Amino acid sequence: MGKVAVGVAVGVAVAACAVAGVVVGRRVGSRRKWKRVVSVLKELEEACETPVGRLRQVVDAMAVEMHAGLASEGGSKLKMLLTFVDHLPTGSEIGTYYALDLGGTNFRVLRIQLGGRRSSILSQDVERQPIPQHLLTSTSEDLFDFIASTLKQFVEKEESGSEPSPVRTRELGFTFSFPVKQSSLRSGILIKWTKGFAIEDMVGKEVVTLLEAALVRSGLDMRVALLVNDTVGTLALGRYHDADTVAAVIIGTGTNACYLERADAIIKCQGLLTSSGYMVVNMEWGNFWSSHLPRTSYDIDLDSESPNPNDQGFEKMISGMYLGDIVRRVILRISLESDIFGPVSSRLSIPFILQTPLLAAMHEDHSPELKEVAKILKETLEVDGLHARPATPLVGILKKIGRDGSGGITGGRNRSDVKMKRTVVAIEGGLYTSYTMFREYLHEALNEILGDVAQHVSLQVTEDGSGIGGALLAASYSSYSVDGVNML
Ligand code: BGC
Repeated sequence: MGKVAVGVAVGVAVAACAVAGVVVGRRVGSRRKWKRVVSVLKELEEACETPVGRLRQVVDAMAVEMHAGLASEGGSKLKMLLTFVDHLPTGSEIGTYYALDLGGTNFRVLRIQLGGRRSSILSQDVERQPIPQHLLTSTSEDLFDFIASTLKQFVEKEESGSEPSPVRTRELGFTFSFPVKQSSLRSGILIKWTKGFAIEDMVGKEVVTLLEAALVRSGLDMRVALLVNDTVGTLALGRYHDADTVAAVIIGTGTNACYLERADAIIKCQGLLTSSGYMVVNMEWGNFWSSHLPRTSYDIDLDSESPNPNDQGFEKMISGMYLGDIVRRVILRISLESDIFGPVSSRLSIPFILQTPLLAAMHEDHSPELKEVAKILKETLEVDGLHARPATPLVGILKKIGRDGSGGITGGRNRSDVKMKRTVVAIEGGLYTSYTMFREYLHEALNEILGDVAQHVSLQVTEDGSGIGGALLAASYSSYSVDGVNML
């Protein structure tokens, strides 16, 4: 997925650059200056070329890396983390559950009431809070005290006027969207931060212990039922609505995927016992890397100037946190090499000044002049690397689990029996849901790589899946339920 991501980033850069370059170019009307712009774009185009053969190489690399990551600890850049989630919501869940969803610059607290039938969420209340910037680099105690007090206020507001149950403790699903090495459903240590968080004292610590300590300090009576990644929450909500859902993908600030794997294919955990014979695996595909990925000088510079070089390579190529900055780098280079923008603006040198939503807005400007410009650029420069990148890792998963029509890399017994089943992938994240062209390119690339098999694969947007799915899993794993069936 990593290399594929690079392609996406470059494609976006090309598109945005083309638009900016053309607008200014038309105004200035200088052939010589244009030649420099064209040569920078040409170089980009070549660096990010993704013919279908190359995409297939990335798909294969992804499936091989998945296998290696399942075979041994540290066997691949794909961590393939155990989640201990071995059953997903069925619809039988009943009752009121909370979730805390922490994974970006906002966090959410939620409360849902479940009616005991598939897709029967009777009510759901969500509150979103931005995390004050200073807390992203502060101490774990400061961060969790802030979260616990927000949660407490939310609970008090939600429950005002109703008596809390004397026999039942509130239960919470904790969605924590960073790489965590779990040792059980309720425990796990933070491996590293991603997406700009840098709270040093937390790395290597038990995440649930820190949250529980803060809940105690705040005086809130609540039990953390389980700890999940946002991909796992999304899979849970996808499954709650559609029993054919087997994988989930996030393409937002960061990127990642999880899927349902056979327990006997998780070779690094010999003898892993699960109630279903399956376990959800958190791939952490943001860290994927393959030499087949088209990496440009802009990707290389962004990585080397980041606080975590050589880390999260794929995420840096495609996700919302980084795409805008890749485009900024391209525009800066054009500006430095040709004076079509006039004197080089000092703002162009400010990292992350161009945020991805702005980039999406530029890319989706369909006003007649820019449309024509984009068309000319596409036709003369064949700038079309964007579409291919986000789809390839997804097909990598389908290949690994034998749902791409090729028989797949099974890591165990033959899976040809399942290969043409309907396959639903739950998907969440602003880049996919709000960036129309990104979404269209992804669909095009899926069709291109999968051919006829694409008709069996459906991508379902699972809005707020990370949080709601966390609460659903709290219900599935409630201490008041037996085998996923809630007894109250
Ligand atoms: C994190 C993943 C998370 C993804 C999407 C990545 O930076 O490492 O755990 O699932 O972002 O939020």
